[in-house]
Order: sequence, then C-alpha cells, then structure tokens
Amino acid sequence: MYSNVTIIEHPLVKHKISILRDKHTGTNEFRKLVAEIAMLMGYEALRDLPLEDVEIETPIETCMTPMITGRKLAIVPILRAGLGMVDGLLSLSPTAKVGHIGLYRDETTHQPKEYFCKLPEPIEERMIIVTDPMLATGGSAVDAVNQIKKHGGKKIKFMAIIAAPEGMKRLAETHPDVDIYIGQLDRCLNENAYICPGLGDAGDRIFGTK
Ligand code: PRP
Ligand code: URA
Repeated sequence: MYSNVTIIEHPLVKHKISILRDKHTGTNEFRKLVAEIAMLMGYEALRDLPLEDVEIETPIETCMTPMITGRKLAIVPILRAGLGMVDGLLSLSPTAKVGHIGLYRDETTHQPKEYFCKLPEPIEERMIIVTDPMLATGGSAVDAVNQIKKHGGKKIKFMAIIAAPEGMKRLAETHPDVDIYIGQLDRCLNENAYICPGLGDAGDRIFGTK
C-alpha cells in the first residue's frame, strides 16, 4: 500500500457504496448517496485542518477554545461527476470556495481531454480537495492535479468514492505529495477502462444522461 493513500473503512461508507453500485438505484437516490459519502469521507480527509485557540464568552465565563484557522479550503470537482461530491463537503465547510476542472475521457483512447479550469485565488494558500467519484486509469486525476500545480496549488488532497488498483497506483506514484482518500478499492479495469465491479458511468448516473 502507498503511504499517501487512505482507504476509508467506515461501515456507513461501505454500505452506501453498495447501494450506489446497484443498477436499480435511480438518479435521485444516487445523487443523495454521492453527497452523503463525500461528507463522510470529508470528515476523514479534513482531519488535519489546523486549529487555533480563540477567546469565547460562554453564558458562564470566558474561555479559550479551538477553532479552525489557517489555510482556507478550496473544493475542486472534476466535471462532471465530481460535482456530485461538492455539496457533501460544503455541508462540513460552508465557507469553502469552489473551483472547477473540466475533463472528459476520450471514448476510444481513454485519455483525458481538458476543456475548463477555473480555480479560486490565492490557490497557493489554500488546502485543496479535488473530487471525482471514479479513479479508473488515473489519467483524469493526474491531469487535474497537474493543472492545479501549474496554477500554484501546493497542499492537494484527492477524494474518489471507487478506485481501480491501476488508477490508485498511477496517482499515488505520479503525485506522492497528494493525500488520496478512497471509499472502496475495486478489482480491476475492463477492456473499456471501466472499473469492475464499479458502478457504471458516474456522470450519467448522477445527471440522468446516457
Ligand atoms: C469519468 C470519471 C472520471 C474519469 C475517470 O469521467 O468521473 O473523471 O472518468 O477515468 P480515468 O481515471 O480513466 O481518467 P468522464 O470522462 O466519463 O466524464 P463525465 O464526468 O463528464 O461523465
Ligand atoms: N468513469 C466512470 O464513470 N466509471 C468507470 O468505471 C470508469 C470511468
């Protein structure tokens, strides 16, 4: 295993991922589950947010008590499917800024094609969480992190709900400084570079397209 990879072992995450996989789970429930899983994974991924004691007046007395300070958070979904994870993370950190990276996988080469990148400034001062439910070949994830680093991003985390071993290896080895959080590590990729058993096409299932 890689030192920069955390596989989330919480039973709630495992249970919700199993419902996501079911081909009978419809768009509405699928969307809700993706948001809930992102929130549960975010609880783990944000474990190292810095705290600073501040003075608060309770109804009883004044005390010093810890609050989150320091680096501001940026959530950066990879379009389209990563968008489904944003609300779950915003429910944990409502003041986070949201950037967007547009990438799609070419259907035959499986290579990522970039079409959009807009990141909140100053990106170099922010803790950045990149979201994408699926880490398959790892091409999209590696490309997204490359783009963020090119814009000056330094402290980067990556969250995927399901990963293939191939994608996890590629991202962990190409970007050893990126902390990677995975909800479930699956068996392999098939001949179309889809994750097995996976959940199918995450973007189509979130947005009801085909
Ligand atoms: C999916 C998924 C990832 C990518 C993973 O997006 O959401 O971004 O494929 O594959 P990779 O690890 O092999 O690069 P897709 O290209 O289907 O775009 P979409 O989210 O717009 O449907
Ligand atoms: N993208 C998806 O949405 N699903 C996969 O299994 C692989 C890439």
